Amino acid sequence: MCGPAGRSAPGGGPGQFGREEKGSRMSVLETERTILRPFQEADAEDLYRYARDPRVGPIAGWKPHESVEESRRIIQTVFASPNVFAVVDRESGHVIGSAGFVSRPQESGSSSDEIGYALDPAWWGRGLMPEVVEALVRYGFEELDLGAIWCSHYEENRRSRRVIEKCGFRYVFTEQISDEFQADRPTRFYVMLRPDWERRETACG
Ligand SMILES: CC(C)(COP(=O)(O)OP(=O)(O)OC[C@H]1O[C@@H](n2cnc3c(N)ncnc32)[C@H](O)[C@@H]1OP(=O)(O)O)[C@@H](O)C(=O)NCCC(=O)NCCS
Repeated sequence: MCGPAGRSAPGGGPGQFGREEKGSRMSVLETERTILRPFQEADAEDLYRYARDPRVGPIAGWKPHESVEESRRIIQTVFASPNVFAVVDRESGHVIGSAGFVSRPQESGSSSDEIGYALDPAWWGRGLMPEVVEALVRYGFEELDLGAIWCSHYEENRRSRRVIEKCGFRYVFTEQISDEFQADRPTRFYVMLRPDWERRETACG
C-alpha cells in the first residue's frame, strides 16, 4: 500500500540525486518546493504532528500515531528502509510528509517497486505530492534502474487517486487487501513502465 508514514513499510521540477553507488546508499532529492532526505530521530515531533491526524493514516492502512515516542520508533524501523524519504518544506525546514519506495526490490531481485506517501493535511491541495512523486519516479528509473514503478490506493481514497493520475500512472487492476481496520478493501493498482516514462520525458522535453 501507499505506506510511508505508517507501520506497513511503504509510504516541481525533476529531482537531483546525491551521487552514491546506484541505489545502494540513501540519496537526497530536490524538487522545486521540497527536499527529500533520510529521516532522522529529531524529526519525530514533526512526524507526530501529522501522523496523529485521523485523516492521514487510516486511509493509507495504518493507525494514527499515539505519541512522539511512537513516531520515533517508526523512524527507527519503517522509515529506516532504504529509499524512504522525509519530505522537507524548503521554506520552513520542517518535515511535512514522507514518501518513498516500499518493497525493496534490491533485496528481492525484482526490477519493480511501489511508491507510497503521506502528507501533513496543512499542506494538502497545493500539488506538493505530485511534485514529490515525479522526483521519485525519476529517481526510480534513473538511479535504481527499475523497469516498472507501481502505486496503489484504497478505492475510496480519491485524493491519492488524483496524485497517481496526475503523475501519469496507468490503472491495471483492483485487488482486495486486508489491513488492521478492515478485510477485503478494494485497492486499485497502477503502473508506470520505463518506456511509458521515457515517452513522457520526450513529450515534456
Ligand atoms: C494523498 C495526498 C498525499 C495528496 O497530496 P497533495 O499534495 O494534497 O495532492 P494534490 O495537491 O495533488 O491534491 C490531490 C487531491 O486532493 C484533493 N484536495 C485538494 N485539497 C484538499 C484539501 N485541502 N482537503 C481535502 N482534499 C483536498 C483534491 O481532490 C485534489 O485533486 P485535484 O487537484 O484534482 O483537485 C494527501 O491527501 C495525503 O497525505 N492523504 C493521506 C495519506 C494518503 O492517502 N496516502 C496515500 C495512501 S495510498
